Amino acid sequence: MTKIIVEKSPALKGTVKISGAKNSVLPIIAASLLSSGEVFIDDIPELEDVNVIIELIKYLGAECTLKDGKLRIMVDIKDVEAPYDLVKKMRASFLVMGPILAKLGHARISMPGGCAIGTRPIDLHLKGFQTLGANINIGHGYVEATAKKLIGKKVYLDFPSVGATENIMMAAVFADGVTAIENAAEEPEIVDLANFLNKMGANIKGAGTDTIRIEGVKELKGTEHTVIPDRIEAGTYMVAAAMTGGNVLIENVIIDHIKPVIAKLTECGVVITEEANGIRVKGKKNYKAVDIKTLPYPGFPTDMQAQMMAMMSCAKGTSVIIETVFENRFMHVDELKRMGANIKIEGRSAVVTGIDHLSGAEVKATDLRAGAALVLAGLVADGKTVINDVHHIDRGYVKIEDRLSKLGAIIYREE
Ligand code: EPZ
Repeated sequence: MTKIIVEKSPALKGTVKISGAKNSVLPIIAASLLSSGEVFIDDIPELEDVNVIIELIKYLGAECTLKDGKLRIMVDIKDVEAPYDLVKKMRASFLVMGPILAKLGHARISMPGGCAIGTRPIDLHLKGFQTLGANINIGHGYVEATAKKLIGKKVYLDFPSVGATENIMMAAVFADGVTAIENAAEEPEIVDLANFLNKMGANIKGAGTDTIRIEGVKELKGTEHTVIPDRIEAGTYMVAAAMTGGNVLIENVIIDHIKPVIAKLTECGVVITEEANGIRVKGKKNYKAVDIKTLPYPGFPTDMQAQMMAMMSCAKGTSVIIETVFENRFMHVDELKRMGANIKIEGRSAVVTGIDHLSGAEVKATDLRAGAALVLAGLVADGKTVINDVHHIDRGYVKIEDRLSKLGAIIYREE
C-alpha cells in the first residue's frame, strides 16, 4: 500500500502554480459527448478522476488523445450504457447521462455508488430529466432514461445541486424550446461548463446565477477550451502557507473564485495580497480561531471544510464549523483526533478547541479533502505523520508531495 509520510516542516516558501479545476474538467469532458466535431481541452490536470472519465467516454465511442495537458476528443457515441465497473470508480461519471440522453434519446447508466461523505443521491438529476419529458426506469442497479424528444420546461431544484444543475443543463441543449433551471447552483465550474457549451453553439444564459436559461439548438460543433484554475487546490495551498507561518505565491488563480477562503484566512490574521500573477499568502505562527459555515457558492466551500478544520485545530481559541452541504463530511475528525486535536461533533457542527501543537500519528484518508487536511496537519505536527489510503488524495491533487516539497515541506511517498 502506498503511504504519504509528512514530517514537521519549516515555514513554506516559494511559488506554486495551480492546475486546471477537477470539478470543471469532469463535466466538460462529459459535455464533449454532445459535440459532432473535434474538441480540444487545455490545462487538463493529471488526476486519477480525469483518467476515469476519459476511459468512460472512450468506452462510449469517443476517440481521445491526451498529451502535455491537452486533450483532443472526437466523438461518435456508439453505446448508451455506462457500466457499473466504470461508474463505481467515480460518482461524477453520472454526468454522462445528460449528454447521452440529449444526443441519443436513450441512456442507461449504473447508479453511482455512495461515498464517505454521504449517500449523495441523484433524485434531483432524475427529476430534471423527467420534467423535460424523459421516462425513467430504475432497476438492477441501473438508471434508464428514454425520450423521443426532450421539451424545454421550468425545472426547480430543491437544493442547488452542482451535479444536477450540470446534468440538466447538458440534457437541455437540444430540447425543443427553452429550459429554465431555478435555484440552480452558481459555482464557477457551472459557468465554465456553460461557456464551453456556448462555444460549441449552445444557447445558455444566466450561468453563475440561480436561474439558468437554455434554449435548445440543433447541433453542437467542436471547439477549443482552457479549463479554469482549481479554486480548491488553490485554497488548500493557501491554508498550507498560513498554517506553517510561510510566505507563498499561489499562481494561476481567479481571485473572485476564492473570495470566501481569502475572507476567512484574513479573519484569522493571515496576510493575503494580490500580485501580478497570483496571490501571496503570509502566514503567522499564531492565528485566531474563526467560525466556518459551509454553503453553496458563493458561500464558504464545503470542499475547504476539512482543510480549515486542520488549521483551526491549532488556532488560538475555539472554532465552530457547521457543514450544511453534506450530511456526513466529518470523517476527518477522528483522524485529526488521533493527532491530538480537540474536536467535538454535535450533529452538523464540530466544535474545535485549538491546542498548542498536534502530534504525528498513523492516519488514513477517508475522502479526497480529508486526505488533504491530514497532509496539512502533518506539516505542523510534532514528529512523523503516516497517511494511508492516499489514492483518495491523488484523485484531486496533482503531485501534492512534489509541490509541497518544492515549498520546503518534508513530505514523501513510500510504497
Ligand atoms: C460536486 O459534487 C463536487 N464534485 C463536489 O466536490 C462538491 O463537494 C459538491 O459539488 C458541492 O460543491 C464535482 O463537481 C465532481 P451536489 P456533487 O450535487 O455534484 C445533495 C470534491 O471534493 N443532492 O451539489 O455530487 C447531496 O446529497 C468533491 O472535489 C441531493 O439531495 O454535489 C449533497 O448533500 C466532493 N440530490 C448536496 O446535494 C441530488 O440529486 C450537494 O450535492 C443531488 C445532490
